[in-house]
Amino acid sequence: MPITHTKDLFAKALKGKYALGAFNVNNMELLQAIVEACEEEKAPVMLQISKGARQYANPVYLKKLIEAAVSLSTIPIAVHLDHGDSFELCKECIDEGFTSVMIDGSHLPFDKNVEVCKKVVEYAHKRNCVVEGELGMLVGAQHDDGEEGGGFSKGGVYTHPDEAVEFVKATGVDSLAVAIGNSHGAYKFKGQQRLDLERLKAIKSALMEAGLGDYPLVLHGASSVPKDLVLEINKYGGKMGDDTAGVPEADIEVARRTGCTKVNIDTDLRLAMTAAIRKVFAESPKEFDPRKYLSPAREKVKDLVRHKVKNVLCCSGHAFD
Ligand code: G3H
Ligand code: 13P
Ligand code: ZN
Repeated sequence: MPITHTKDLFAKALKGKYALGAFNVNNMELLQAIVEACEEEKAPVMLQISKGARQYANPVYLKKLIEAAVSLSTIPIAVHLDHGDSFELCKECIDEGFTSVMIDGSHLPFDKNVEVCKKVVEYAHKRNCVVEGELGMLVGAQHDDGEEGGGFSKGGVYTHPDEAVEFVKATGVDSLAVAIGNSHGAYKFKGQQRLDLERLKAIKSALMEAGLGDYPLVLHGASSVPKDLVLEINKYGGKMGDDTAGVPEADIEVARRTGCTKVNIDTDLRLAMTAAIRKVFAESPKEFDPRKYLSPAREKVKDLVRHKVKNVLCCSGHAFD
C-alpha cells in the first residue's frame, strides 16, 4: 500500500473517535517494531521523524527504510516531521514527500509563531501537505491554574482556549499541539501533578464554537513511562532516578475522548529498547552479535506498540475502515 495522507488518517480518526499513534522512528529496528505491531493490530499509524533522527540516520536512509516498511505492509501509514524548527526544514520534508509537517514556533512570541506557521502553511498547502502548529510551551506540569475568578490565565505557558482559536484562524494550521502540563522525556511530573484535562476540553469546545468543527488536537509528551520498564532498566545496571513519571494511561484515554487525534510517543519506545538490550548485556556479557540484543529489543518495542494501539489509543482494527 502506498503512503497514506495524514489528512485521510485524521478524517477517519475523528469520525471513528480513536487516536492515531505518532511514533518516533530513528532506526530500522524501531521502524520494524512499530509497523509490524500496527500491521498485526490492523491499526493505521503515523511515523514521525525529528530533526535529530534525520541527523542520526540520514534522511535518505530514513526515506528508504520507510519505503520498505510501506511496501511490506497493508496498513495505512503517514509520514510526519516532528518538531520542525524552521521553514527550511519543513520545506525540505515537504519536498521529500512527507504527508505532514510540524512547525514548532511555540518558543516564539504569539505573532512570530503565527508568522512562521503561516509561511509553512502557504508552502505546504500548495503541495498537498498538512501542517501541525503548537501554541503554549511543553515545560511540564506547573501552576497555571487560571486568572482570579476562574477561567484560564493568559500569558502563562499553557495553551489558552481563546488564543488557540485566534492562532488556528490566523495561521491556517490543520492541527494544533497543545500545552496542558505535558512535557517530553521520562521525568514529567512531581508528586500528584497531572495533565490539565479541563483545559483540553475548553480548547476543544472553543474551537468547535468558533466554527472550526471537530478540530484535531495533538498531544505531545504522551509516554506513560511504565514503571516495569524503568525497574528492568535499573535491575540490569541502569541508573534512572526514582522520580520517573509519565502520563497515566487513564489520562491518555480521556485526552483521546476529548479530541486528541494524534498522540506522540517516543520515550516509551526508548525505554523498552533500552530495557531489552540491558538485559542481554547483563545476562550474556560475552554476547557481541548485535542481532542477539537488537532482536529482543525490537520484540519489546513491538509489544509496547501493540499495547498502546489496542488498549490506549483504540485504533486497532481501524486500518481498513
Ligand atoms: O519531541 C521529542 C521527540 O522525542 C524527539 O526527540 O529530538 O531527541 O529525536 P529527538
Ligand atoms: P514522549 O517523550 O512523552 O515520548 O513524547 C514524544 C513527543 O512528544 C514527540 O514529539
Ligand atoms: Zn513532541
